[in-house]
Amino acid sequence: MSRLVVVSNRVAPIDESKQTAGGLAVAVLAALKKSGGIWFGWSGTVLDTDASPTEPSLHQVGKLTYATQDLCRRDWDEYYNGFANQTLWPLFHYRPGLLSVSRRTMEGYDRVNAIFATGLAPLLRPDDMVWVHDYHLIPFARNLRDKGLGQRMGFFLHTPFPAPELLVVVPNHRDLVRDLCAYDLVGFHTEVDLRCFANYIRYEAGGEVEPLGPGQGMLIRAFGRQLLARAFPISIDTPALESVARTAARSRHAERLRESLVGRRLIIGVDRLDYSKGLPQRFEAFEQLLVSFPEHCNRVSFLQIAPPTREDVPEYVSIRRALSELAGRINGNFAEFDWVPIRYLNKSFGQRVLAGFYRLAHVGLVTPLRDGMNLVAKEYVACQDPEDPGVLVLSEFAGAAHELPEAMIVNPFDSEGVADALQRALTMPLEERRERHAAMLKTLRANSIGHWRESYVDALTRAPYA
Ligand code: F6P
Repeated sequence: MSRLVVVSNRVAPIDESKQTAGGLAVAVLAALKKSGGIWFGWSGTVLDTDASPTEPSLHQVGKLTYATQDLCRRDWDEYYNGFANQTLWPLFHYRPGLLSVSRRTMEGYDRVNAIFATGLAPLLRPDDMVWVHDYHLIPFARNLRDKGLGQRMGFFLHTPFPAPELLVVVPNHRDLVRDLCAYDLVGFHTEVDLRCFANYIRYEAGGEVEPLGPGQGMLIRAFGRQLLARAFPISIDTPALESVARTAARSRHAERLRESLVGRRLIIGVDRLDYSKGLPQRFEAFEQLLVSFPEHCNRVSFLQIAPPTREDVPEYVSIRRALSELAGRINGNFAEFDWVPIRYLNKSFGQRVLAGFYRLAHVGLVTPLRDGMNLVAKEYVACQDPEDPGVLVLSEFAGAAHELPEAMIVNPFDSEGVADALQRALTMPLEERRERHAAMLKTLRANSIGHWRESYVDALTRAPYA
């Protein structure tokens, strides 16, 4: 069995007691523990030095080596705060208006990718499979190839991939797509992202695209290489979460939440405080619900959990300020002495606590303006009581909407439409709620996180596709 080498900007904490129970980390760790291998990435440390170290620190845990590299402040600012999160992130989330472009951050991004590749290269064995994650690390494989390394290398993008008309806004778009073609396998969340990539290859790069049949992806010939591009919709650990949720509704936190509601219905939203999540529009939609259907005043509470993120990036400072103002205005206008309409929290909770909150909530409100997948949507469904499930209201622009058409699908820009969907969700008969929920749960059981990981690793094992 080949070793797996996982490369991602963030690496799960080496101390297992500090590892979060959810998602990617669990999936990747399970694969790494099975095959043995390396998890390589940024250490979490930013140094006040002039240059980043060129060698990683190594920590061995069983068959798994954690290899992590510190970065100096300038590298971190230009690579992560700069090009990754002020250029690629807004662009990949269809927000060119928020984009900032500079040669300095573009160079910083390339420099850090080169530093990382130099750090990993000596640790690689010829038969290793290298699996690189996310938009921070697009040039990683090309840097390894430039050193003469011929291992199987795959990339998975955790964000949307934009339409070519949008991608060309960034000056180095051709370099980015050329660098993607240095991988043997490029994975996206949805067929839409895959189509956007294929369209760039066809119409901008002058390459060839050969579709391989439904769900099988496309062979890409471009920049002197041949590779497979395919959609692999990421998922959650469905059975584990179902089981956590069964008892989590009786936890101390869930009990406190239930008591605080005193019989009112609960709408829940859980998101990083990111402008891609559509939070201002969501708050306005909730306000619209109270205006259009005043019978919900004092009868429904909206709990929005939004832990702050990327606070060194100015757009994240502005969205935080704007949301605080909006929540204050709506609460000021609608609150009663015994009821606050929006409970807005800038902090995070563990997965077990959230599972209990999801189970109590009558509506899960997931309305990003654009999102690669959105695992909260899936988690909300997995945590419901199948006998009396809540309703998922889901943005058509989240990747999850492709797999969960039985949710109430909404356009997050249309606050009146979202308010109408909330009204339907809050008044939906039990039979319809059960039917919608059962269909979604069936999908999530069929495509759990293990299935995602295994289908990706299986496709990478078959590389090269030349
Ligand atoms: O959605 C893309 C993503 O990279 C996720 O994989 C991750 O959970 C999230 O963004 C967190 O971003 P950051 O590492 O910037 O906190």
